[in-house]
Amino acid sequence: MGSSVLEAKNISVFDDYDALVKGIVELFVKLADEAIKARGKFIISLSGGSTPKGFYSRLAEAEVASRVDWSKVVVFFGDERTVPYTSPDSNQRMITELLLSKVPLSRENVFAIQDPDMDPKDAAISYERSMREFFKLSGDELPQFDFMLLGLGDDGHTASLFPGSPALTEAVRWFVDNKVEKLNTVRLTTTYPVINNSRHIVFLAEGQSKASVLKDVLTGPEGKYPSQNVKAETGKLYWYLDKEIASQLEGV
Ligand code: 6PG
Repeated sequence: MGSSVLEAKNISVFDDYDALVKGIVELFVKLADEAIKARGKFIISLSGGSTPKGFYSRLAEAEVASRVDWSKVVVFFGDERTVPYTSPDSNQRMITELLLSKVPLSRENVFAIQDPDMDPKDAAISYERSMREFFKLSGDELPQFDFMLLGLGDDGHTASLFPGSPALTEAVRWFVDNKVEKLNTVRLTTTYPVINNSRHIVFLAEGQSKASVLKDVLTGPEGKYPSQNVKAETGKLYWYLDKEIASQLEGV
């Protein structure tokens, strides 16, 4: 695709999902090396859903895992469903099973969301407290993640920032409970102030079914989709896509 608009948006398109996974793995390894060399740690926020499963699995494979100093990696969860950890819908369970249980992380560097299925308000307050304890910031300073992994929903949501949901207007808190009417559920999510303060924000998305929404998100009027409010205020934003999801971007 040639448009300067798209080139300005730092879009990488890969032939298929396997190539996309290999591509984001190389980015992850590179950014981890840079962060650890520069600041002694690599602070990451991981997304749920199905798209990143291949990425997490590949990262855990020995020949890739050996390229990351996991003892210096700090893991947070970008969002979570209000389900028990044992639920098949739990992002924490999926990420732990595919990645965190297979690489030599330091236990104190993995920040779990406690009891997401109990009182979502308490779970969100408690998680933000653990974020604040880790980042040790003062006043209204915002935490800065080195790697903020995001997905794209077919309604243009990202993390658990869904169209029309209250969290879209949250400008102070770092992590909130968020009522999602269309799913008739409450989700837990990192907010835009934190997401947008990341050094590297990476959207990982694939599949023909999302080609239309992706085109709208990237080339349509602003303010229609939650993922359009993700802006790299201090760092860099990347779109890691496969050819299918990017199929409507040709010639834009
Ligand atoms: C979640 C994710 C969510 C996801 C999108 C895309 O908890 O489900 O954080 O934002 O990234 O819904 O999901 P798929 O990758 O399953 O299409």
